[in-house]
Parts: sequence; structure tokens; C-alpha cells
Amino acid sequence: MNHFEYGPEGLACEGVPLARIAAEVGTPVYVYSRATLERHFTVFRDALVKAGVVDPLVAYAVKANSNVAVLKVLGDLGAGADTVSEGEVRRALAAGIPAERIVFSGVGKKREEIAFALKAGVAEINVESEPEMELIAAVAAELGVRAKIAFRVNPDVAAGGHAKIATGKSENKFGVSFAEAARLYANASNNAALDPIGVACHIGSQITDLEPMRAAFTKMRGLVEQLIGEGLSIERLDLGGGLGVPYFNHPEPPPPSAFAAMVAEVTKGLPVKLAFEPGRVIAANAGVMVSEVIHVHERPEGRKFLVIDAAMNDLVRPAMYDAFHDIRPVHAKTGESVYDVVGPVCETGDTFTRDRALPPFGPGDLVAFMSAGAYGSAMASEYNTRPLIPEVLVDGDRYAVIRKRPTYDEMLARDLIPEWV
Ligand code: LLP
Repeated sequence: MNHFEYGPEGLACEGVPLARIAAEVGTPVYVYSRATLERHFTVFRDALVKAGVVDPLVAYAVKANSNVAVLKVLGDLGAGADTVSEGEVRRALAAGIPAERIVFSGVGKKREEIAFALKAGVAEINVESEPEMELIAAVAAELGVRAKIAFRVNPDVAAGGHAKIATGKSENKFGVSFAEAARLYANASNNAALDPIGVACHIGSQITDLEPMRAAFTKMRGLVEQLIGEGLSIERLDLGGGLGVPYFNHPEPPPPSAFAAMVAEVTKGLPVKLAFEPGRVIAANAGVMVSEVIHVHERPEGRKFLVIDAAMNDLVRPAMYDAFHDIRPVHAKTGESVYDVVGPVCETGDTFTRDRALPPFGPGDLVAFMSAGAYGSAMASEYNTRPLIPEVLVDGDRYAVIRKRPTYDEMLARDLIPEWV
């Protein structure tokens, strides 16, 4: 469930018509619903608790939507943060999320990033390879601290979904193999600079079938039991993120309650706490991108291009993963016309959809891209020197700009011309 519904003034986010935001803030613009963010987080966590998971750490995957205001909304509900860069750790801390709820993942953490995370006192650094374990040990020894680490294990399970976001097969760059995991865990236990506290896995994103997850989690259970059997101490199993959301053309994903029941079943009796890293399932359907039609370009042979003021640099998912986003008129209309919806960027890939039947549009009409709250603004760029688009958070009848659109002067001021040019 989300809070984007048609009202007397067209499609609204909670109590605020999107047309009002478009008029006051300009387009394109991302609009997020606080109530939806809160609902999704609560539903996810409560489903786990109801299924019998004791005190889960729900570390929201910051990469999905990293706006500090969004992080604060979630952090205030008790969310932790799954981060993959020093920048994301800083964002989580800036949002008031305590370090003891921050997980630091990622395949290529740099020395300075590790040092920053250790000084901040994050809950767990997920180790993705043996050289990374050695680097973390060296940095921790220099700082005179013991690094709490968890080994990210690659369960070698195919999760389905788009190849660019599947992470759980051994040919992917993520995590250590099962065979390595037990050896590295034992090595780490004997290293004064390391405090191994758990193991982690994450097999992919937009997963709509629980079976690959069940297979991966069952393997992880086996590993935890093996480590315990070897006398090693382990307190946390991090099961990652990846649960899919409905994008309207996609197989319906299982609800969090089904996911939670599966988790509870697979981990029953295991003497460890569980952690999760959900991103999309919290943020995707809590946000839309609103854009204005610039013009309709109709070719004599019949193809109709709906040229809008948002482009692939603002929402890259269709260009990058052939992703489907439902496109709705902000003011409900009757009738139908078939369009290719395109942005102003100078690439053929700047196409949001082809041959989509939509209501008939004209210049100045507003369209809303649904399910754009995750991996939308977070993946935006300034390609074609298009300013990053602003973000707005709605709370009931009020809204606030939570990231402003940069001015052209601000954008140009970042470039420097050396005096020898
Ligand atoms: N944990 C780790 C280690 C991850 O790599 C990811 C996502 C997550 C958690 C969160 O996964 P989620 O619950 O959001 O599925 N840009 C792509 C998605 C990339 C996902 C990368 N990793 C997209 O727009 O579909």
C-alpha cells in the first residue's frame, strides 16, 4: 500500500496534490511520502517480529534512497543503515542513526573509508575477500581498535531477475566462497585486531521468488552451525536485502509476511541475532518522479514521441535495466494514445518506454513515474549538464524540499580552469 491517490486536484501524495508541488518547486521533481516510508519499514520489521525473529536489526540499504531526511524518518523508527561507502556512513550518521546500527558493506572499501568506519564505531564491517580482511586488520591495528567484522559469503545461488543486479553466483564479484569462509573466520578469530561476529549474504535485488532466498539462507544456516561446531563464536547472521516490489508489469513479489515466515522457518533455533538490509521494499513505492510534457512529436509514419523534461540522467533504471515504471497522468484523463516516452538527452537510450498506451497528452501536462523512490534520485547524474532534480518529502498536508535543485552557477563553479589553459 502507498499514499499516492487521485483526489479533486489530481494525483496527490498524501494530502498534497502533485500539481501543486510541480507548480511551486518546478519539474522534474522527486516526491516521497513519509507515511509510506514509515509504513513499509514498520510492516517489514513487524512481519519479522510476528514470525518470531527476536530483535532483528533492520539496516535500511542507504543506496536505494540516500537523502538524509529519508534516512532520518527511518532511523527515528529504529532502522539501522546498510552502507557501502564513507559517504553513505556519513549520511547515516548525519541522520542520527547510531553507529551501532550501521553496517558497512561493499567489495572495494578503501583504507581511509575503513579507518573512518572504525573510528565511528560501526556495528559491523562486512568483509568481501581475504585481501580486504587483511587491510581491515592492518587499519584496525594502526588505530589500536578491534574491528567487528562479518564475512559476506557468496552462496552461489541464482536469484533470477536482471543480470546486472544479481549478486549471488560465484562468477559475481561479491563475497567469499563457502569453502573460504570457515577458514577465514578461524583466522580472524586468532587476529587481535579482528573481532569476527557473524556472516552475511545478499543474493540480488528485485527478487520475486522466495525459493532462491530459502536456498541461500539454508546454506548460511549450515555455515553458522559449522562455525559453532568448530568452537567459533558467532552472534549475527545478516541475510541482506533483495525482496522485490510490484512494478505493475512484474510478477507479484511475496509480501513481507511470507518472507518473514520463510526466514523464521529456516533460522529456527539458531542461536544468533538476525540482520536484514532491505532497500527497494522500503523506498520504491514511497516515491514518484513528476515530469512535464514539453511536446508531442508525431512522425508522419505514425510513431508518437512524448518528449518530457525528465531524462535518463534523472531516472536511469529504464535505460540501464529495461526497467518498467508505471506512468500516470497527474490529472486523470480519458482516451488512449500510444507513445514512446523520451527525455531530452542526446542518446537513443534516453527512452523510458516504447509503444506504451497512455492517456492523450499535450504540452504542459504532468506525468508521474510510479515506484521511483528507490534507485531513482540515488542514481541520478548531471549528464548533459542537467541539474540534479530536487527531492520533496510530503507529510500529510505539508511538504518540504529535502534536496534543492542546484543552480547553474553552483554547477559551473565546480569546474576549474588552470591558469595555464
Ligand atoms: N545489501 C547489499 C549488500 C546490496 O548490494 C543491496 C543492493 C541491498 C542490500 C539492497 O537491496 P534491495 O533490498 O534494495 O533489493 N540499481 C538497481 C538495484 C541494485 C541493487 C544493488 N544492491 C535497480 O535500480 O534496480
